[in-house]
Amino acid sequence: MTRIAVIGAGKIGEALLVGLLGAGHAPDELVFTERYPERAEELSAKLGVKAVDVSTAGSTADVVVVAVKPQDIDPVLAELGPALRPQTLVVSLCAGLPTKLYEDALPAGTPVVRVMPNTPMVVGEAMSAVSPGTHATEEHLSTVEKMLGSVGRVVRVPESQQDAVTALSGSGPAYFFYLVEAMIDAGILLGLPRAVAADLIVQSAFGAARMLRETDDHPVILREAVTSPAGTTIAAIRELERHGVRAALIAAIEAARDRSVELGKH
Ligand SMILES: NC(=O)c1ccc[n+]([C@@H]2O[C@H](COP(=O)([O-])OP(=O)(O)OC[C@H]3O[C@@H](n4cnc5c(N)ncnc54)[C@H](OP(=O)(O)O)[C@@H]3O)[C@@H](O)[C@H]2O)c1
Repeated sequence: MTRIAVIGAGKIGEALLVGLLGAGHAPDELVFTERYPERAEELSAKLGVKAVDVSTAGSTADVVVVAVKPQDIDPVLAELGPALRPQTLVVSLCAGLPTKLYEDALPAGTPVVRVMPNTPMVVGEAMSAVSPGTHATEEHLSTVEKMLGSVGRVVRVPESQQDAVTALSGSGPAYFFYLVEAMIDAGILLGLPRAVAADLIVQSAFGAARMLRETDDHPVILREAVTSPAGTTIAAIRELERHGVRAALIAAIEAARDRSVELGKH
């Protein structure tokens, strides 16, 4: 039995707890910490998982998952450090925080794994990228992959690529939401009721995502299959190219990467 403590059961932390319970972890293998007692009680009643304080979490768990906002990290590490047992695995889900920050603040030799997840974790479809810190072994990485595999997919990347991951999959869901929002607006412009436009686009997005994942075909192949000569799709594609949508996406993701680097410096 691996005892897992989630420090900060907000959006991502709660989604992880739900996923772990769904994957068969018994409620008594899990604990979480929350700042406000009301939130702790509410979540405890909802999930059947015990709320504890940070030092109890640190002294009893085999794996401590940190899921607070990056700006809230210092008090958490100050409380966690003295409580941690040797070899407790610490997993950071916090955007931009390097493993070194944890290694410097926690007892010498603490294994740390850095993870960039994303919000589809709430529906068990997260994309998470994991990177080992200095003392994390293959076994630690496997433990984290198994844990996050219960709420989506997992890849390994060197820590130096985490800013790029943040820009692509960390923020990625927001780009798709933005695209869907714009396409629903287009439906309204064409005279469709909002609810109908939303249904058409959301199901199209879902179907397209499944095709991308399940056929394993390159996106160009899938797009060419629906782009007939002198047809409707090519008329739309010409406008997308004319408005520089491809270049805009590349520049947007590069800007997100740069911002991630900048945030990591503070
Ligand atoms: N949401 C995303 O898209 C996303 C994607 C990838 C990674 N992440 C990372 O995941 C982490 C969590 O994000 P989130 O969106 O889940 O944030 P969130 O909803 O604000 O959750 C953070 C939770 O931690 C609690 N907390 C803060 N300090 C605490 C402490 N000292 N002890 C116990 N609990 C404490 C907060 O309580 P209060 O409500 O009292 O502040 C809050 O419930 C962030 O580091 C973020 O970078 C998020």
